[in-house]
Amino acid sequence: MAKDDVNSAVERYISSGRSEKDVERKEHYFKMALQIQPKNIRALNNMGLLLQQKGEFREAISYYEIILDLGVVTKPSPIYYNIAVCLKRLGNLEGAKTYINRALAKKPDEEIFLELKEEILDLLNGTPSAVLPHTTPKASDIGAPYGEWDPPAIAVDGTYDDANRLASEVADQNPDWAFVNINIRPYYTEGSRTLAFETAEQLGWNAPDHIVAPLGSGALLCALTRGYSELENIGLIDSGKNVRISGSQPTGCSPISTAVQNDAEVIPIRELDTIAHSLAIGNPADGYYAKQAIQNSNGYAASVTNEEILDAILLLARTEGIFTEPAGGTTVAGLKNLVESGHIDPEERTVVYVTGNGLKAQETIAGALDSPGSIKPTYSEFTNTFRNITKEQAPTCQEVN
Ligand SMILES: Cc1ncc(COP(=O)(O)O)c(C=O)c1O
Repeated sequence: MAKDDVNSAVERYISSGRSEKDVERKEHYFKMALQIQPKNIRALNNMGLLLQQKGEFREAISYYEIILDLGVVTKPSPIYYNIAVCLKRLGNLEGAKTYINRALAKKPDEEIFLELKEEILDLLNGTPSAVLPHTTPKASDIGAPYGEWDPPAIAVDGTYDDANRLASEVADQNPDWAFVNINIRPYYTEGSRTLAFETAEQLGWNAPDHIVAPLGSGALLCALTRGYSELENIGLIDSGKNVRISGSQPTGCSPISTAVQNDAEVIPIRELDTIAHSLAIGNPADGYYAKQAIQNSNGYAASVTNEEILDAILLLARTEGIFTEPAGGTTVAGLKNLVESGHIDPEERTVVYVTGNGLKAQETIAGALDSPGSIKPTYSEFTNTFRNITKEQAPTCQEVN
């Protein structure tokens, strides 16, 4: 396509997106504009604003970040401002403060930035502390190492369930304090649906036959189910409602999988024993609905051991070059389990959700992996070691020492 054609196609899509009232269509037009010209700043920005408007803040941030990564904007301050607004809505006030400071550094006298800064500082002062289970990785994806937070983070000797219970008790006792987890939950669920949108888009606007999702509270699996169904409702894909939904949980914490396997109620458990800390929720808030979604779609749920999770992490790293944390290992191990037990047909187009980056849980994974060891920097040590590892003859070449 000639350059002028590309530009006019992009303009056409963008203006259709601007004039259309239907939000889903707008999103489609902006995405088309981006496909034609991936660096289109206006379409990227419009997508960010649209998602922000829809309350899909995490997604919106990723579009703004692409603009910043491209390094072509002359005035990044509005983008910093938008990111700050999204982070604030996600409850990440420290992150929001950082971006607002960056925006102010670019445009120090802008009143609107100062107002947002005041608002964020007020909220920060009013937030006494964050309560986390002690197993939360120190450099987790929340945006900052939690040991460095101010106001302070307090690690609880217990599970997510214990931390949630304590946090709500603290909020109950202190009328000025809030239990933020419940407040931000709607955004988490709404945002998670976009995993279904992205999958359908990457499959050329088709639904997969079967998916495998990790199960903690069960919210993500329910959101995926809803995402596929909504895409069918608006006519972007066929058979979104026929996707078979399966889940996977670690055996040391598998109330939902156990309920599916026994066709029984979800029974909360107190003693959790798993390396998949991000899935270690003994009392899953959406367990009932997740079980229903799985059974209504003719899916199933696997329970996988720590060993299987670690093997799956290594398998994914070796075969796909993707380093995941144990939640991703749980779904990959779950896939293997479900295929072997006949619940997934190898002919089905199956999508496995690998939801967590391995860097987030290095502390958990590192201890469980073998160290490769080291050798002296000589050619003979290399050839001996190479032979031992591979049982193959080392390359024949004269040693030079
Ligand atoms: C990396 C990761 N994947 C999956 C999940 C499971 O999500 P849900 O609690 O919605 O079932 C979580 C939960 O926090 C998670 O941290």
